[in-house]
Amino acid sequence: MSPRRIQADVLVIGSGAAGLTAALALAGHCKVAVLSKGKLSNGSTRWAQGGIAAVLEAEDSIESHIEDTLIAGAGLCDEAAVRFIVSQGEAAIDRLIEAGVAFSKDEAHEDGYGYHLTREGGHSHRRIIHVDDATGAAVQETLEEQARRHENISLYEHHVCVDLITHRLVGGEERVHGAYVLDRKRREVDVFSAKAVVLATGGASKVYLYTSNPDGATGDGMAIAWRAGCRVANMEFNQFHPTCLYHPRAKSFLITEAMRGEGAHLKLPDGTRFMPKFDDRAELAPRDIVARAIDHEMKRLGADHLYLDISHRPQDFIISHFPTIYRRCLDFGIDITKDQIPIVPAAHYTCGGVVTDLDGQTDLAGLYAIGECSQTGLHGANRMASNSLLECLVMGSAASQHILQHLGGLPDPLQAKDWDESRVRDSDEEVVITHNWQELRRFMWDYVGIVRTSKRLERAQHRVDLLKSEVEEFYSNFRVSRDLLELRNLITVADLIVRSAMARQESRGLHFTKDFPEKSEIARDTVLTPPERASIRLSRGPVAVSG
Ligand code: FAD
Ligand code: SIN
Repeated sequence: MSPRRIQADVLVIGSGAAGLTAALALAGHCKVAVLSKGKLSNGSTRWAQGGIAAVLEAEDSIESHIEDTLIAGAGLCDEAAVRFIVSQGEAAIDRLIEAGVAFSKDEAHEDGYGYHLTREGGHSHRRIIHVDDATGAAVQETLEEQARRHENISLYEHHVCVDLITHRLVGGEERVHGAYVLDRKRREVDVFSAKAVVLATGGASKVYLYTSNPDGATGDGMAIAWRAGCRVANMEFNQFHPTCLYHPRAKSFLITEAMRGEGAHLKLPDGTRFMPKFDDRAELAPRDIVARAIDHEMKRLGADHLYLDISHRPQDFIISHFPTIYRRCLDFGIDITKDQIPIVPAAHYTCGGVVTDLDGQTDLAGLYAIGECSQTGLHGANRMASNSLLECLVMGSAASQHILQHLGGLPDPLQAKDWDESRVRDSDEEVVITHNWQELRRFMWDYVGIVRTSKRLERAQHRVDLLKSEVEEFYSNFRVSRDLLELRNLITVADLIVRSAMARQESRGLHFTKDFPEKSEIARDTVLTPPERASIRLSRGPVAVSG
């Protein structure tokens, strides 16, 4: 078999809420290729529970949503980004309703659209529109169905982007011309050419041992953009969700924050509520505060988990609001209408990412980043619950509008050389990859987790450096596989997280360090710039372009 050459007007890397929103908006006007590492639905979107934050009823206001977001972001949100994204919320929800997403109704509620709005931490109003406790699955299914039917969209499942193809035209700027993409079934690296490329690759929480995220959340887009010379920002702010189910077979199944929004209490093993002593907002304080309080109580008691309890609410209310969680917990012998739910915090959301403007543009001409892999300035030092799907929908649409406005004037992509496999062979030691995956995720959890110290960060940096050189050597000698590519990206992301955390000599939002427990008066983003594009080129793989 030989590598293929595939051409589209726009290449969208990622098929979650951000990628499919962009692809559908583009497809009315041009040819779009969409990549996904596995099945289309394998990203985080499919797992979103709580819902989507948007101002949808008269008692609520855009100003209030903005204010809550700014407060949760601990002084680091970009107010213009917050204003832009929040003010587009209603239109984004309207598009989903029109597309057929059946949001949960509240017949008793006369305001808004007659939809049920739930509450989550940091929000001062009920403003989370949802589909029971499985909002993401409904959104993903609807967008997927539309994308599958669209004649201008070509879907490439089980295709992993390795790196971008970039080139500086004579007298012009460096721009993206497409990507090298591993077709996992054919085991070939193909060349995808496009005038514009959209990274919509999701987050990087898989860098931690315990995470609510699916396996593919390996920060590929952040690492790929970094290698292509783009800045990344605020990578130290990884959000830990306070309540993942604690059970050996549950693989960090999430218990939605909306459950606390509907009255659930966090409890110690002896049944005592503890959140009121940490924050006036108690269980509905922003996530950083709740996760740190749980971490503190677990360490103080030597407990390996605490509890969430909603059993005081009526049985039919619980089952009708949280049917997915009810069924899943029953699988593990926990009846949430009667029993307390064992919970632990787990890595959940990457607030930092590839720096973009409000059109989704990155530092590299023709390259856009949207959704969890991007850093628009919406989340600051701590993302407020349910603001991320909102960002995916709004920025997916904003980036596609910008691309369409400029597409006619963009140069045709140049013909890149084929991927060079002449000097590599099949790996004979997969154990190196599995071992390094595990080692990385464990030390990131232990040293770069909810509570940090300078010493722990130094230790982590030392280990990242060792893994980096080992994996680069592996990458130079062996044929690429999904596992190897993901490990390589995770190590880059870990490096960016640790360096950002070391640079932030204060505690703010999700970054808490015992060595600098106070918040500085001046809030600054941590922006990392690739040292020099030339020096971070791939150690193999042709980036030179001919034609
Ligand atoms: P994803 O949906 O993660 O999709 C990423 C896509 O990129 C996938 O298709 C993947 O295959 C592809 N990809 C990645 N790397 C490559 C590569 N190298 N090559 C090719 N393709 C690649 N947010 C809310 O707002 N509300 C919620 O209620 C909510 N609940 C959540 C519950 C859970 C359990 C989790 C995990 C997250 C939740 N979030 C929630 C966060 C939210 O779901 C995510 O931030 C959001 O879905 C990210 O969407 P995305 O389109 O950016 O990426
Ligand atoms: C949840 O349902 O608790 C997750 C919401 C989010 O991550 O925004």
